[in-house]
Amino acid sequence: MRLTYYGHSCIGVNTAGHDVLIDPFITGNALASKVDVSRIPATEILITHGHGDHVGDAEAIAKRTNATLVSNYEIAEWFAKKGVKNTLGMNLGGKAKVGPFTIKYTAAVHSSQLPDGSYGGNPGAFVVTGSEGSFHHAGDTALTADMQFLKGFNLRFACLPIGDHFTMGIDDAIEAARLMGVTKVVGIHYNTFPPIAIDTKLAMASFTKAGLELMLPEIGQTISI
Ligand code: NI
Ligand code: MN
Repeated sequence: MRLTYYGHSCIGVNTAGHDVLIDPFITGNALASKVDVSRIPATEILITHGHGDHVGDAEAIAKRTNATLVSNYEIAEWFAKKGVKNTLGMNLGGKAKVGPFTIKYTAAVHSSQLPDGSYGGNPGAFVVTGSEGSFHHAGDTALTADMQFLKGFNLRFACLPIGDHFTMGIDDAIEAARLMGVTKVVGIHYNTFPPIAIDTKLAMASFTKAGLELMLPEIGQTISI
């Protein structure tokens, strides 16, 4: 698998010949100004919840790529009304076949209002399973005991928020990784805004001390994972 970090919580994963794009928020992110949104590949776009820093550029990318946009039912309908052709609405605990993947919409403890004030359903997270294994994107969430249910997926890696204030911070993300049984963590949702600024060296050291690997790719960087 190849993973590209587009800043904030936006992750692109190239696997099974597809490009899974999660929570694209680039135009509104000053730190991601070097990323060219019009060139980001996507065959599936996954939206964890309705907040502006997660739905961001999804409409434009979906219309350009004709990717299947997957989210909860309310958010999928919101995008369908905006003219996004391929949408798939799910709800918590369900799984669906999407292209070469099985995608499960799992629990997150957060909120989910859409940017125009529309009801955005319940926030969630995703487990994506394909021919090269499974990975998880936690969206925005607190530490929650439900994470222990992800152990059975033998996750190759998990993308976990580490910025604190609106989501888990470093210590809770370490506990989340333990609950999920995952050793490789890609840190998301940090440093974009002042309230979620963190000491990245301390974050790295804390994960290492816990016997885990924290990966913090540069914005625009692609890594093998
Ligand atoms: Ni949020
Ligand atoms: Mn957020």
